Amino acid sequence: MRVLAIETSCDDTGAAVVLDGRKILSNVISSQIPIHQKYGGVVPELASRRHIESVVPIVTEALETAKVSLNEIDGIAVTQGPGLVGSLLVGLSFAKSLSFAAGLPFVGVNHIEAHLSAIFLEEKPPRFPFIGLVVSGGHTSLFRVDGFGKYKRLGQTRDDAAGEAFDKVAKLLGLGYPGGPIIDELSKAGNPKAIRFPRASLGKDSFDFSFSGLKTAVVNYVKSHPEPVEGYPENLIRDIVSSFQEAVVEVLVKKTLRSAQHQGLKRVVLSGGVAANRRLRERMKEEASEGKIKIYIPSPSFCTDNAAMVGVVGYEYLKRGIRSPLSLNAFSNLPL
Ligand code: KG4
Ligand code: ZN
Repeated sequence: MRVLAIETSCDDTGAAVVLDGRKILSNVISSQIPIHQKYGGVVPELASRRHIESVVPIVTEALETAKVSLNEIDGIAVTQGPGLVGSLLVGLSFAKSLSFAAGLPFVGVNHIEAHLSAIFLEEKPPRFPFIGLVVSGGHTSLFRVDGFGKYKRLGQTRDDAAGEAFDKVAKLLGLGYPGGPIIDELSKAGNPKAIRFPRASLGKDSFDFSFSGLKTAVVNYVKSHPEPVEGYPENLIRDIVSSFQEAVVEVLVKKTLRSAQHQGLKRVVLSGGVAANRRLRERMKEEASEGKIKIYIPSPSFCTDNAAMVGVVGYEYLKRGIRSPLSLNAFSNLPL
């Protein structure tokens, strides 16, 4: 089954053709970073306008790269939410129109489920059940995953998402947008132990997260070290971001591995943009090996938003005969 998948939940326009939910025939992404960079974050109105311009060329490119025509496609999958509603509506409306015009079945996909399923694009995906950590710009949640469509949420952030904390700290220090990859790179040469930032545990039995106290601690640190006229020395910036990153990573690793123990599971899957973080990937693997837990992390380009992961989920539902009606709406909040 060849599924054409479309993803427009935030600021990237993505389209992919995926064979049997596993093999990528094409996976095209058009990033809007240059548009939003000067505002230090995604401007929703600009994002949806750009999706309108990009969706047809990106879908056309996905079909051309896959070397398939529309009549060789068996179904369409599209992100329905959560995300920016104006952005979601562009992809969803396009997918519905194409489904109607071409007489193809279509299905709406939850963006969180798509992130959790990106691992199935890899050579050796895990067996169910597993613990799934979703860490992105909008979400930080832990799930027990028993199969496609079978999710039990074990915990989530009570305030900022992990990626949001990366973006806000980078903005505070004037480092640019998006903050995650910039902090990841700068941290390589920083000292992660230079500053002891707080780690919110929220009680020993809690699998929830909180990053707003950590963000405030970084703000307070910066305020108590006023910027010299010649700017902050490069090594101080590296130490601040590296210590901040260490605090985020430590909490994510501890809670994720503890939830695996708690559920008696030996497999853990990371997903979402923050799962591209070098230090998180490294520490999760190091600490898991002590408890003999196997860690599965998609390649970085499958961690950040992409349409191929939407194709994985779309295939699973379409092959079971599950279809969405043409009246399907987009939702900025769509629980999993
Ligand atoms: O999954 P994603 O592409 O979009 C959402 O669904 O939000 O995640 C984007 C988030 C941004 O906050 C970005 O700063 C963060 O993921 N991110 C990273 C890295 N790459 C992207 N955070 C830390 N380290 C990275 N290497
Ligand atoms: Zn995402």
